[in-house]
Amino acid sequence: AHRYRIALIPGDGIGREVIPPATAVLDAVGRRHGVTFAYDGFDWSCERYAAEGSMMPADGLDRIRRHDAILLGAVGWQGVPDHVSLWQLLIPIRREFAQYVNLRPITVFEGVPGPLRAARPGDTDGGVDLVVVRENSEGEYSEVGGRFGRGTAGELALQEAVFTRAGVSRIADYAFDLATRRRGHVTSATKSNGIVHTMPFWDEVVASRAEAFPGVRWRSEHIDALAAKVVLDPSSFDVIVASNLMGDILSDLAAAVAGSIGIAPSGNLNPEREYPSMFEPVHGSAPDIAGKGVANPLGAIWSAGLMLTHLGHPEAGDEVLAAIRDTVRSGKTLTRDLGGTAGTDELTRAVLERLS
Ligand code: NAD
Ligand code: IPM
Ligand code: MN
Repeated sequence: AHRYRIALIPGDGIGREVIPPATAVLDAVGRRHGVTFAYDGFDWSCERYAAEGSMMPADGLDRIRRHDAILLGAVGWQGVPDHVSLWQLLIPIRREFAQYVNLRPITVFEGVPGPLRAARPGDTDGGVDLVVVRENSEGEYSEVGGRFGRGTAGELALQEAVFTRAGVSRIADYAFDLATRRRGHVTSATKSNGIVHTMPFWDEVVASRAEAFPGVRWRSEHIDALAAKVVLDPSSFDVIVASNLMGDILSDLAAAVAGSIGIAPSGNLNPEREYPSMFEPVHGSAPDIAGKGVANPLGAIWSAGLMLTHLGHPEAGDEVLAAIRDTVRSGKTLTRDLGGTAGTDELTRAVLERLS
């Protein structure tokens, strides 16, 4: 029997509503596979910031360093500027634990009324199965820069995008390697046609890493055209590798194309397993629906499934995905974002029934 210690950070808003469904699913699927979980909850959030002046304690990272994995809901709430809540919690975890891969699979499930179905009546929508491999440690999310001359006529803000050969190489390697276990195709998001200096460098490094994966076909696409193609022809993609900001935008875009960002999961992975990886839905704290019990829990539940696979239980991870797929296909207990009227609890119960 395997026993894992999981750090739980529900965070703010609907983050707190989608984490209990995720742990309920972990416990249910764990029972079938001889896997148990011990959860340590952490109240790190904007509420904590309001009370204590910081998102997490000074030794916060050390408190979760030895856990097997981290499950996070979402952070961000009114009263705390987003750049404060994120730079004090989410980004430090990703960086301290070298979670340089942000893995974001997107599938169109039968039964989800995606925007494409209406737009293209001929589509079956069955064939979308892609993964955004987002660089998660550098790029546009850099600490180099700042705001200067506040309140003066010359006021300005600047931020340097930082790309390193080591950083681009390791994310490219991850994407190419992943493609060898999928349909063997990689699309690299770029912007090398403009006056951006970093992207020709990204292209060059990706091209050099591609040589080590002769079985993988790959191409570069400009991010603007690529975004349009994700909307018009999403089933043509297998693995998309992208910089931090481009990958962030593409993953919400692709998730919306698949029906709702409420379904989309993510794994912030430290592939070397020197540190815990962190699993979280792609969506945020959704203040507009928080507290109403209507948040879609499937993104958090699927994230828990990714966690199971990462911990070495891919059959259990696949069962979670199959339970999601079945539940959605039945069309009975869908949340509002999926065109239904069910609440978070009802949809969670429907998934749990399929796992018991
Ligand atoms: P959001 O993802 O919270 O919400 C965008 C829209 O999608 C809203 O209309 C929301 O109601 C809807 N939505 C999101 N998740 C849903 C779900 N599970 N079920 C049903 N509908 C859902 O993005 P935002 O509004 O840009 O950000 C709100 C806050 O969340 C901000 O403070 C932002 O910084 C933060 N945020 C945090 C994370 C994170 O912790 N990883 C990610 C994204 C945004
Ligand atoms: C995500 C979020 C974060 C990001 C924000 C909240 C900093 O949008 O995880 O996708 O941009 O990485
Ligand atoms: Mn995002």
